[in-house]
Amino acid sequence: MRIGHGYDVHKIDPGKEKLILGGVEIGCGFGLAAHSDGDVLLHAVTDALLGAAGMGDIGSLFPDTDMAYQGISSILLLAEALGRIRSSGWEIEYVDATLIAQRPKISPYIQKIRSSMARGMGIDKDRCNVKATTEEGLGFTGRGEGIAAHAVCLLIEKK
Ligand code: CDP
Ligand code: ZN
Repeated sequence: MRIGHGYDVHKIDPGKEKLILGGVEIGCGFGLAAHSDGDVLLHAVTDALLGAAGMGDIGSLFPDTDMAYQGISSILLLAEALGRIRSSGWEIEYVDATLIAQRPKISPYIQKIRSSMARGMGIDKDRCNVKATTEEGLGFTGRGEGIAAHAVCLLIEKK
């Protein structure tokens, strides 16, 4: 059994209309600046999984200098990383993630995000939890300059 941790931050882009978190579109009048679709939550989860498998990180697998990944859905990046992780003999036991955002209010979307992430990882929804917190107006998340995400996971060896 192996533990993994992932952390990611993206800058808020007021010129974008939609935020994409865990593969779910949230129409809140701003988005996240990124080379990909900016799904900060999936990036943290993918890094946690790669970390547990000892396979580097999302940036080493999908360099942001590579035009092939411009605007790409992070669900596809997650699926590609997971394919490699599973081929190395690992299966997901559990994933837990925390979004750090002053706004929007994530709670109305949490179940949809969990379902989307579980589908993206090919696991049951009860093996994947997502939480959200503000930082009480403090720091870059509190000022609404960016959104951060942390994730941890457990991988088990396939029988
Ligand atoms: O986390 P804490 O209880 O100290 O307070 P908070 O950060 O103000 O969050 C209060 C509640 O709002 C929590 O249940 C969070 O899950 C939820 N929340 C949310 O839905 N969306 C956010 N962007 C931040 C918090
Ligand atoms: Zn990212």
